[in-house]
Amino acid sequence: MTPEEKKQQVAKAALKYVEPNTVIGVGTGSTANCFIDELAKLKFQIEGAVASSQATADRLKSHGIPVLNLNGVGELSVYVDGADEANHHLQLIKGGGGALTREKIVAAASAKFVCIADESKLVEQLGTKFYLPVEVIPMARSFVARQIVKLGGNPMWRENFITDNGNMILDVYNLNIIEPLKLETAINSIVGVVENGLFAHRHADVLLLGTDNGVKELMI
Ligand code: A5P
Repeated sequence: MTPEEKKQQVAKAALKYVEPNTVIGVGTGSTANCFIDELAKLKFQIEGAVASSQATADRLKSHGIPVLNLNGVGELSVYVDGADEANHHLQLIKGGGGALTREKIVAAASAKFVCIADESKLVEQLGTKFYLPVEVIPMARSFVARQIVKLGGNPMWRENFITDNGNMILDVYNLNIIEPLKLETAINSIVGVVENGLFAHRHADVLLLGTDNGVKELMI
């Protein structure tokens, strides 16, 4: 099975968490895009979706799915999104597409977080295959980078990229992420950091992994 087929498989499987007449949250990236395309085929109506990025909002709208403002709705029933890495505690690294801040907000505002990914994203320790994206206020970029070096990371500026919030991204390599909860808090405590891509405090509740033998469901 190709990686694309695995993404489609988990996107379909996530539909069982979507209830009629609810408002859901929708993530960003190629796997989330597969989910949006599946959502469009649902036999029942949802009230609408809160998007974690402009790209997701555009794709939802292209299918005629109502895009709602988070400020106008209560708790979302479920948030469905991909990840760059996941561990067995369902803690994640996200933000490869640069949408981590809005993704974390929508995930926090949702009763359940269903993460969809192909099995290659499952790792023993976060940060071993993927770097950690950190969104920063532009004027604080160099300052934040120096503080991250003190934490043992090697930050690289994602040049020519501006987030939907008008900020910049530092991609941090070589972090030894033994305690994701502590590191998530430590990085967010640096003045000038908007958010980092560790989803340890608000981890996924369900992880659907696409494998050659079907969808594997991990739950906490
Ligand atoms: C977007 O900012 C990311 O958090 C994505 O959710 C993550 O990069 C996974 O993307 P793919 O589904 O394209 O691998």
